[in-house]
Amino acid sequence: MQTSKELEAVGELSTRIAHDLKTPLSVLRNSVEILKAESDSETKTNIKLLDSMSRAINRIDHQLNEVLEFVMPKNLDLKTHSLFEMLEGALVDILNLEHVTVCLPYYDVKILCDRKKMEIVFENILLNAVQAMQNNGKIQIEWDETDTEVHINMKDSGHGIPEKLLQRIFDPLFTTRQVGTGLGLPVCKTIVEQHNGSIRAETEFGKSTTFCISLKKQQDL
Ligand SMILES: Nc1ncnc2c1ncn2[C@@H]1O[C@H](COP(=O)(O)OP(=O)(O)O)[C@@H](O)[C@H]1O
Ligand SMILES: [Mg+2]
Repeated sequence: MQTSKELEAVGELSTRIAHDLKTPLSVLRNSVEILKAESDSETKTNIKLLDSMSRAINRIDHQLNEVLEFVMPKNLDLKTHSLFEMLEGALVDILNLEHVTVCLPYYDVKILCDRKKMEIVFENILLNAVQAMQNNGKIQIEWDETDTEVHINMKDSGHGIPEKLLQRIFDPLFTTRQVGTGLGLPVCKTIVEQHNGSIRAETEFGKSTTFCISLKKQQDL
């Protein structure tokens, strides 16, 4: 009882902090954008600094969203969306892609889903992949469909996951990164399961990791 009350309090506190930080963060983001727009005549160093501020702001924003999505998953806003477009949306938000090759399938699949939430799933997986490859490597995305389902595989050429840690990666707060929240994959799992789908990981330690997501093309709610 005591522990669950404490957890509830920590949950509420983190929601409040995450929520409150969003406002000053968006002030920072807007200010940086304005400075960037006005900085034609500025030195290259300033532009570099502004770009790195933008990236830092995006990273903080991403972590706050992870916390918020974890503590208060909202209802689904279901519409038909293209997998291509959702992945493109997610890729735009992933940083430092210069040395990362992304291979996508040749054909599109449409599914009934909550676009924002599915983009969060793809973003989290892509971000983890990019981090595991230290911004350098290949991400292979494949999918195949049946009449009712689509199976998506996202494989990276990163450092892989040791066998004994594999069963823990979807646990809330599990992270091997110094700056990680350990909420990315639990959020992915919650969102995919909200869509009546499933997610799992396969890995070859030192070589690659593949996230396999199965989703229904239609929802019979
Ligand atoms: N593509 C990947 N390659 C190697 N390890 C991964 C990959 N994706 C996730 N992991 C492992 O799973 C852990 C949990 O991931 P996640 O829930 O996104 O939290 P975070 O990214 O904040 O650490 C990571 O810290 C990492 O150890
Ligand atoms: Mg992550």
